[in-house]
Amino acid sequence: MWLRVNDPRYTIVAGFLFILRPKLFYMAIVAPSLLASNFLRLEEECKMLNDSEADWFHLDVMDGRFVPNISYGPMIIEFMRKTTKKPFDVHLMILEPEKFAEEFKKAGADHLIVHIEACPNLHRNIQQIKSLGMKAGVAINPHTPVSFLTDVLQELDTVCLMSVNPGYGAQKFIPHSLSKIRELRKLIDNWNLPVLIEVDGGVTVENAKDIIAAGADVLVAGNTVFQSKDPKATISQLRAIEVSKAL
Ligand code: DX5
Ligand code: ZN
Repeated sequence: MWLRVNDPRYTIVAGFLFILRPKLFYMAIVAPSLLASNFLRLEEECKMLNDSEADWFHLDVMDGRFVPNISYGPMIIEFMRKTTKKPFDVHLMILEPEKFAEEFKKAGADHLIVHIEACPNLHRNIQQIKSLGMKAGVAINPHTPVSFLTDVLQELDTVCLMSVNPGYGAQKFIPHSLSKIRELRKLIDNWNLPVLIEVDGGVTVENAKDIIAAGADVLVAGNTVFQSKDPKATISQLRAIEVSKAL
């Protein structure tokens, strides 16, 4: 029921809202990136994440062609799958991801992210990922405008906004990424879409608050988590960061 402005009850409700100043609190999903883990102790690292407050596992797949580095593929992911039931957020930094989508599904991927720069038929890639029963994500590099996503945004579950150039961990957060997050947040909110904004690269305990305040839903963190003295505590710290916005 809506109250008219001249209804005395309107003044009472407005007065209460003014005094209480209701706020919305935002906290992010935390997705540690195993790229920064100790591969010699991969099973222990996975179990540590499983026991931690981490929400997702972020798994970076690199082919040495789309990015100048090679990491790991579906075989390793299949081994990791045995250690946890938490969602696997698989970030494909590879050319021709359509050739491998099914294999990653079989290996245990829950979300599959492809790069806009690697997919001339992006809409088809998204449909393929969804038809395989995975959540579909698209990643954009630092040089790619947010506006390039407008015609596929309604098809997506996640946008992975790269805040470093993909290929390596431990790089510095590119400050311009904050305005890209804000721009994407506006687009998603204006259209009322249930798309998550994931920010990947150079996320630290220090800059996480600004990233969430700009509109991010998911924080990917590699070195910040795995190089810290107490990775579980760092994950909890990232998860506890709270940003309030007045209603
Ligand atoms: C970079 C990867 C990132 C990387 C993040 O190409 O996509 O997920 O692992 O690592 P940090 O958090 O160390 O920048
Ligand atoms: Zn990544």
